[in-house]
Amino acid sequence: MARYFTVLKITLRTHPNFWKKKLKYLQIYCYYGAMTLTPVKKFIEQLGIENEGFFQKQPRWATSYWASKMDHKKTIFALRMRYWNEYRGAEVLARFMFRVSDPTLRMFVGRQIGDEAKHAFYVKKRIEELDGEVGRPLEEQEVFYDTLDGFLYPEEFFAAQQFTVETQSIKRNEQALMNFDPTTAEIFRKYINNDEAFHVRLGHAGLAFYCITKGAQERARQAARKIREKHVAMSLSHYHLLEREGLL
Ligand SMILES: [Fe+2]
Ligand SMILES: [Fe+2]
Repeated sequence: MARYFTVLKITLRTHPNFWKKKLKYLQIYCYYGAMTLTPVKKFIEQLGIENEGFFQKQPRWATSYWASKMDHKKTIFALRMRYWNEYRGAEVLARFMFRVSDPTLRMFVGRQIGDEAKHAFYVKKRIEELDGEVGRPLEEQEVFYDTLDGFLYPEEFFAAQQFTVETQSIKRNEQALMNFDPTTAEIFRKYINNDEAFHVRLGHAGLAFYCITKGAQERARQAARKIREKHVAMSLSHYHLLEREGLL
């Protein structure tokens, strides 16, 4: 039987039309691939809808980490959570920057690193003005940032951090303006909120650049799914902390 297949293989390879046919099959395969690839704009739109559907199904505390009515202690706890998100965010983005091959996108990520570092600075400053301390990040927060660090393909990181998480961050920033005391709210208005809108736009640009193959689209989709779970776990962990502190 093995000999039969060897003879068949040799016959095919020496047949004058063998390579011609092979090329034709390859062309058909590529054409099929291009026809079935979701256009990138549509892919981004679908991923946005999937993200939104996921977060809308979550309980309130899975998507937010500040109480609707703030007092002094609740403000410090909310800002501590925020501080570590900004601080760890700047660190993982600094590592990510060198995994971005496109020079323009790489420089945009560079700007984002500076933004997050600035946010960390102002949030820490406010915590100290309120006589609080930054403390330590939550365990789930460390897991969340380790997950981002583990995304080696640019499309994975752009899908997870800028496209998924930053979109949620914009919603929390709007809550910040309503829930915090005027001085804290002013810090968000003056130094933070506008930058986060840029980070979301960067997520769109990163996906548009990298998600041009089926493989890249699938990696981006899986990364968004993974980070959503970690994000919810992180927010709920903060909720349980507030519960233990008697702040709810
Ligand atoms: Fe930030
Ligand atoms: Fe951000």
